[in-house]
Amino acid sequence: MKLIDRVAIVTGTSPNIGGGIAEALAAEGAAIIAADANAENANDCAKSIQANGGRALPITCNVTDEAQVAKAVAAAVETFGRVDILINNAAFFNKKGVLDMPYDEWLAQTGVILGGAFLFTKYVAQSMIERQTGGAIINIISTAGHQGEPGNVAYSTSKSGLLNFTRSTAMELAEHGVRVNSLTPTATDRMESFDRAERWGRSVERPKDDVMESYRVRAPMQKLPSPSDYGRAAVFLASDDARMITGTDLRVDAGAIAKYWPWDPSAKHQ
Ligand SMILES: NC(=O)c1ccc[n+]([C@@H]2O[C@H](COP(=O)([O-])OP(=O)(O)OC[C@H]3O[C@@H](n4cnc5c(N)ncnc54)[C@H](O)[C@@H]3O)[C@@H](O)[C@H]2O)c1
Repeated sequence: MKLIDRVAIVTGTSPNIGGGIAEALAAEGAAIIAADANAENANDCAKSIQANGGRALPITCNVTDEAQVAKAVAAAVETFGRVDILINNAAFFNKKGVLDMPYDEWLAQTGVILGGAFLFTKYVAQSMIERQTGGAIINIISTAGHQGEPGNVAYSTSKSGLLNFTRSTAMELAEHGVRVNSLTPTATDRMESFDRAERWGRSVERPKDDVMESYRVRAPMQKLPSPSDYGRAAVFLASDDARMITGTDLRVDAGAIAKYWPWDPSAKHQ
């Protein structure tokens, strides 16, 4: 086990990506603080880890509320003694473009993605520095943060900003033994998240049409990643295997961002 005795805060622990990453870290021995504004997502994630014999603490916390973030980090330290790993994953989707997005919605979405990562990084890094334990911080990006996406302006802009937040904070925190990296997911196979939700005791209505098919055929690998694929990459970045890696981005995107733009990988003879 690569993360035995480590303590990890994961923000945004729905049954999709955050839940998948939290369960992957827990499977390697980490104690998990599942922090989510949605109490059900925090509780169900923590319960599932406990049911598998792991240690977990659910915390209902809005990542944009500084007092709640400070309290969440303090509760993690009080319960498990320290924090070694932070996964800044909380986000919400609100696909609007520059012409139709109201300013308050722009502020809300950039606030959660960038502001939430800023606040959690600040309080967790302060705690790591205080205890001189070092640590690993991982920011969850999106392929939309690497390319211009029309009609998703606040999301793609914040995710792009998070890439440079990663590099800047990696430089600031290097002297304290705190590594900061990012992990880029892309359009994600939804089956595993439905399975996880059912495992968490939820009733799931599986859609009849595969809405991800149009993404799958454009992916060079002709299949899409699942949350557990991101989980394995997060375990690597959080573990001592990545001890010399900081300020970088690990893309788990089936080749999406490496693709030469006019190439259609679903057309056989090109
Ligand atoms: N789903 C995808 O295809 C995809 C692709 C690329 C990147 N991502 C990124 O992966 C991450 C997880 O995405 P997901 O698909 O699992 O999303 P999701 O909506 O299933 O989960 C997001 C979680 O964040 C929580 N959250 C939202 N606002 C919050 C706040 N203010 N404070 C605390 N918690 C808050 C929600 O309650 C939810 O549990 C996000 O950062 C997203 O941008 C997702």
